[in-house]
Amino acid sequence: MERRAPTPPDDPDRTDPLRRLSLEELRRRTSIKWRTHPADVLPLWVAEMDVPLAAPVVRAITDAIGLGDTGYPAGTAYAEALAGFARRRWGWQGLAVPRTMIVPDVMLGIVEVLKVVTRAGDPVIVNCPVYPPFYPFVAHMDRRVVEAPLGPDLRIDLAALEGAFRQAATGGARAAYLLCSPHNPTGTVHSAEELAAVAALADRYGVRVVADEIHAPVVAPGTAFVPYLSVPGAESGLSLMSATKAWNLAGVKAALAVAGPAAADDLARVPEEVGHGPSHLGVIAHTAALRDGGGWLDALCAGLDDNRRLLAELLAEQLPAVRYRPAPGTCLAWLDCRRLGLGDDPAAAFLARGRVALSPGPDFGTGGAGHVRLNLATSPEVLTEAVRRMAATPT
Ligand SMILES: Cc1ncc(COP(=O)(O)O)c(C=O)c1O
Repeated sequence: MERRAPTPPDDPDRTDPLRRLSLEELRRRTSIKWRTHPADVLPLWVAEMDVPLAAPVVRAITDAIGLGDTGYPAGTAYAEALAGFARRRWGWQGLAVPRTMIVPDVMLGIVEVLKVVTRAGDPVIVNCPVYPPFYPFVAHMDRRVVEAPLGPDLRIDLAALEGAFRQAATGGARAAYLLCSPHNPTGTVHSAEELAAVAALADRYGVRVVADEIHAPVVAPGTAFVPYLSVPGAESGLSLMSATKAWNLAGVKAALAVAGPAAADDLARVPEEVGHGPSHLGVIAHTAALRDGGGWLDALCAGLDDNRRLLAELLAEQLPAVRYRPAPGTCLAWLDCRRLGLGDDPAAAFLARGRVALSPGPDFGTGGAGHVRLNLATSPEVLTEAVRRMAATPT
């Protein structure tokens, strides 16, 4: 009988990566999270995570450096790794490697894909409050952002979406819908039924769906992420995915644009030069993460879920006026602080007087005033101290 080696109890990829680095170690980092504010500020804003890298990622990058393998990227290993991940994690068999393209990162991929499915002046619909860069990136490419607010339950409001689709499709515009799935900042994980309803609406009004699925791997244990392209009726959709958020790889850039069967020709129209942007090291890192980083990801998702519960408890004890609905997606928490009396931008008060940096709600568009976004991807100790500082912030 074949004997399998047991997982060593000290295998670092099986322990919560959020509990492994000290604040002192983290403060030596030079990335934007750690260098934007002075050292007395606790940073829980931008979606970087306070984790060491997954061991397979470290190995892959270190081996590449050792070999001097720092040329241009080649081949389809990244797309194959994503297709394998999609089969294992989401039971989705439909990610066809020939219908993928490597792009520099998710935001630039979104821009390139929107450029081929819309024209200058056309509307791009978003579900506000939403990831702030959606606004300037869309405006910069001469498209118009149209807001279809989330419902009070922080889920897609299909009636509002239909209204926006109907309006956008009038007068011959080629409208697109930039879906954020799971949703940043609320952490909402859209259901298969919701996504199928989106696809049906998009089909009815001739709106092209571009799904930003960068947070897809980061869902609570027991929650099913549903890829947009896997739902019935989504054949003309496009998706942007990468390992960036789940494995903290924003500094080693590479992402994938994935086309549904009826969008392959559109993806083929993305200019070849876009493929010159991604870094070979990025492709190597992302491939290793998706192929071999599942154990690390499980530990991360469990740790984030612990932090969701901890945050809910801490807020209930110390800041009961803050409304928080824990949601299973992303590493982010969206906090309604309107009852604190800190005005439209509570993050400004928490920063200036509490010395804790959160993301300002108004940046997320309509519905963001009075809110803050808190990044849960930190240790329970840092999270506890952050809430203590928030609670101690004078009004
Ligand atoms: C929804 C969403 N899309 C895109 C990005 C940025 O991705 P990239 O660095 O690959 O452009 C982020 C980063 O936090 C995000 O939350």
